[in-house]
Amino acid sequence: MSLRFNFTNLFKSDLIKTGLNRDLTKYQAMVDKAHQTILQQREANILGFFDLPEKNTERINTYINSIKDDFDSIVVIGIGGSALGNKALYSALKTEKGLTKKLFVADNVDPTLIYDILAQIELKRTLFNVVTKSGTTAETMSVYLLILQILKEAFPNDYKKHIVITTDKEKGFLREIIRKEGYYDFEVPDNVGGRFSVLTDVGLLSSAFVGVNIDQLLTGAGTMRDLCATSDIEQNPAYLLGLTHYLYLKEGRNIAVMMPYANALYDMADWYRQLWAESLGKKYNLNNEEVFVGQTPVKALGTTDQHSQVQLYREGPNDKVITFLEVETFKYDYTIPNLYPDRDEVNYLGGQTLSKLLNTERLATEIALSKSDRANCNIQFPKINEKNLGEFIMLYEIATVFTGALLEINPLDQPGVEEGKIATYALMGKRGYNQVRAELEEIF
Ligand code: PA5
Repeated sequence: MSLRFNFTNLFKSDLIKTGLNRDLTKYQAMVDKAHQTILQQREANILGFFDLPEKNTERINTYINSIKDDFDSIVVIGIGGSALGNKALYSALKTEKGLTKKLFVADNVDPTLIYDILAQIELKRTLFNVVTKSGTTAETMSVYLLILQILKEAFPNDYKKHIVITTDKEKGFLREIIRKEGYYDFEVPDNVGGRFSVLTDVGLLSSAFVGVNIDQLLTGAGTMRDLCATSDIEQNPAYLLGLTHYLYLKEGRNIAVMMPYANALYDMADWYRQLWAESLGKKYNLNNEEVFVGQTPVKALGTTDQHSQVQLYREGPNDKVITFLEVETFKYDYTIPNLYPDRDEVNYLGGQTLSKLLNTERLATEIALSKSDRANCNIQFPKINEKNLGEFIMLYEIATVFTGALLEINPLDQPGVEEGKIATYALMGKRGYNQVRAELEEIF
């Protein structure tokens, strides 16, 4: 495994006075029960993400090879789980791998976003990947319709080659369209939910397009999955993360901050935000009792947010658990020149690298937070590459379903977003929603 963990500051010490007791043995029975839940869910074939490391990538690689000379940009049209992982992987690897092909993600119906994307691409050299598991999401469908029209006008005879669709293998409007119009297509497996789908065709296709080694991603994910197969809490980093966050949540630490000290990993924190929020924020437990659980995930960026958020994290309410992400070695680094050797204000910086300053500031923030009794931990990437990103993704996917099992909620559904979707359909005039619309108009 390449990721390294430091969980020390999650536990009680001279500094972390309100920390958890380091001896977690009394929770082992609870952990074993949650572990059994996961095994049963895997047996019931509803946790398909566990099996993705064995995924055959041949079809993706063959397709990408066949179109690689035709396109230099890809626009992913999708939202939520059908977009955030794509963005996160591209941001993480773009500079580290020197990716030359470009990826844009149209994950909003903000007209300015769409305008900006269209302004940056050369239509002729752009592939559009429509990604939607349900095949009906309003935001994705509207951008798809818009792009389809633009493509049809520009290339009446071969607009189809600019479109590739990733959706459910049988169901949904888009699957019908694929059958009717003959677009090239990829699948979102039934047993992998949107926010767990980055290692399916959803995230792999656009990653392979830009030049990411998707087999290495899967290898990394497999390494982490195998490491996290044990219910021994001391040997399983996903369970340790899940258990400690669960225990802190029970004590009222309602906020989980992920703070990468690397701009390249900032979008990964966004991916995590969706995973943790949508999976664990639930009104009902598995017995249908009202529980209103969840831990609000927040993203912050080091060092930038030291000058914005850290004041609150240190001196505000002690209601957070903070996870730093650290990168040991960056592909590009700079040595700060010693331009004023006789000025103590800046001469200590001269001759040192930017990455040393960045990582020293991370450590300094860890020390400062610990001195204020703020629980924190660190996940270190020796460098950013496909293998450790795969490890990271699998780590958090397992931690999420494990925490869901501890909370005795369903981490795989999202009933809370349905109401808003229905209201949108009604207010936008979708057929069959007149009654809802009339009711809404009475209230608002
Ligand atoms: O995690 C989820 O299930 C959601 O965030 C979905 O990914 C999101 O709503 C998009 O759904 P779809 O892929 O069906 O368009």
